[in-house]
Amino acid sequence: MNLLVTGGAGFIGSNFILYWMRTHPEDSVINFDKLTYAGNLENLKEIENLPNYVFIHGDICDTNAVIKALADVDTVVHFAAESHVDRSILESSPFIQTNIVGTHVLLEASLKAGVKRFHHVSTDEVFGSLDIHDSKKFTEATPYDPRSPYSASKASSDHLVRAYYHTYGLPMTITNCSNNYGPYQFPEKLIPLAITNSIEGKKVPVYGDGFNIRDWLYVEDHCRAIDLVLQKGKIGETYCIGGTDQDFNNLTIVKKILSFLGKDESFIEFVKDRPGHDRRYAINWDKIHKELGWKPLHDVDTWLMKTIEWYKNNQQWWRHIKSGEYQTYYKEQYGRNGGKT
Ligand code: NAD
Ligand code: TYD
Repeated sequence: MNLLVTGGAGFIGSNFILYWMRTHPEDSVINFDKLTYAGNLENLKEIENLPNYVFIHGDICDTNAVIKALADVDTVVHFAAESHVDRSILESSPFIQTNIVGTHVLLEASLKAGVKRFHHVSTDEVFGSLDIHDSKKFTEATPYDPRSPYSASKASSDHLVRAYYHTYGLPMTITNCSNNYGPYQFPEKLIPLAITNSIEGKKVPVYGDGFNIRDWLYVEDHCRAIDLVLQKGKIGETYCIGGTDQDFNNLTIVKKILSFLGKDESFIEFVKDRPGHDRRYAINWDKIHKELGWKPLHDVDTWLMKTIEWYKNNQQWWRHIKSGEYQTYYKEQYGRNGGKT
């Protein structure tokens, strides 16, 4: 395969490229990335000199650059996005631009280039929020009900991808995945923020009552699911991807992190809740299990600990990030007093 991976310098994109080069060394990969605050080529150091890997610094909203990059490509795997809910609440325009307009540019160019597969990487957040006391889970048939600018922009991109399949016959697949964790995740998201703050001896901000629930999946399980969908998935189909059956609320996750790092619960700081904060996400991944044989192989207890170890052993990677523009964002998001209630 000749792949074009958009957003390959971000968290999941870089894990995907590392995974792909390991498991499909005969394939070629072009990494097309704008290198926003979230893109980091250091993630790809170990493969940057391989002859079958190329990096292109480009914006998916730039039609000419995208057309040029697609010249010899048969498969597009589209990760590029603005991905953080809190940033979408502070300023939504970049989300509309990259996630909607950028996806549209990529769809047009992929159609014209005649790619054999356009795979769109999406999120379970498009389905909205589940009740905390309900055992219901999201499936491929759940109606869309996005509630943040981020999830609304991702929902919009999913609709565009489906429209290009039905209207123009673009051979596409979509995956809607739950919250990922693992190495190279930007320390603005809950798990890497909690780990790095704890290592620095800072408090960990927990929104609201801390009882919001996410469905956690180790990033390599997500990469393997996309691989299976690319190899065996049916054109025009959507697959939901999620973690193990256990529900963990944010407080439980933060307590696990603090305890592993030898910190007590006084390091938890309850802060102002996120507006429109989705209460619970949970994914029913029966379809991809039954049709393609996928299931998560990494349990939260073991792999959260391994992720903490990774952040302990790679402090240069995140300390560098936390010393830059991040400081301005952190102050705006959490306020001088950490956004305390
Ligand atoms: P990320 O924020 O870590 O990385 C995004 C990458 O996209 C960065 O490298 C950035 O430079 C690049 N990018 C942004 N705008 C661009 C543009 N206009 N042109 C080219 N490149 C651009 O994001 P992530 O957490 O790795 O998420 C990747 C994808 O997976 C996103 O589409 C996201 O919606 C989806 N997703 C994420 C999760 C999660 O838990 N992180 C879960 C499900 C789905
Ligand atoms: P996040 O990692 O931002 O992912 P998402 O909002 O896309 O699910 O947040 C995960 C959960 O953690 C979510 O319920 C919000 C909460 N959270 C905090 O309590 N404190 C924080 O500082 C952050 C970033 C998130």
